[in-house]
Amino acid sequence: MLLKIINAKKTLELGVFTGYSLLTTALALQNDGKITAIDTDRDAYETGLPLIRNAGVEHKINFINSNALSVLDEMLTKHDGMELFDFAFVDAHKPNYIHYHERLMKLVKIGGIIAYDNTLWHGSVAVDEEEVPEIFGDGRRAIMDFNTYLASDLRIEISQISIGDGVTLCRRIR
Ligand SMILES: C[S@@+](CC[C@H](N)C(=O)[O-])C[C@H]1O[C@@H](n2cnc3c(N)ncnc32)[C@H](O)[C@@H]1O
Repeated sequence: MLLKIINAKKTLELGVFTGYSLLTTALALQNDGKITAIDTDRDAYETGLPLIRNAGVEHKINFINSNALSVLDEMLTKHDGMELFDFAFVDAHKPNYIHYHERLMKLVKIGGIIAYDNTLWHGSVAVDEEEVPEIFGDGRRAIMDFNTYLASDLRIEISQISIGDGVTLCRRIR
């Protein structure tokens, strides 16, 4: 619905796995919409590919089997004259969210949206450190630092959506 409201044409997805969110995005875009989808795990992408094919939306997807940060850096070196993205969904390596964000501030257009997944980290970001199960530890710290970073970033407006594991929507305003 969000993609339709903003009439997204060109989108980016960091972290695909078997393509659940990718398929959702592909179904929401118009027939000429495009998604650049990046993941280090080609096998996972290929596991879900039959479903993407059955849905008739494979032509909208450019899958890149690589590390997301390297691909973003490569895009930035060629970015002069490149059409910017309308939307990005970020769901890859959590400690890299801050680094993705800095690059996305140049690759997503002003007025475009970036959605960051897992920003409540199983609710652990709102729990005292001593009460958090060890398993959430490192990811929790990375997400808390990231949430603090976004809250003071004047280039964006943010909205924390408390569904699933938490999604932060950022609208680039400058
Ligand atoms: C939570 S899953 C993505 C789930 C998917 N977005 C969905 O909602 O259906 C995270 C994915 O990020 C990928 N990933 C982790 N680190 C990455 C990196 N540095 N560059 C690209 N992909 C990465 C993993 O291989 C994994 O498939």
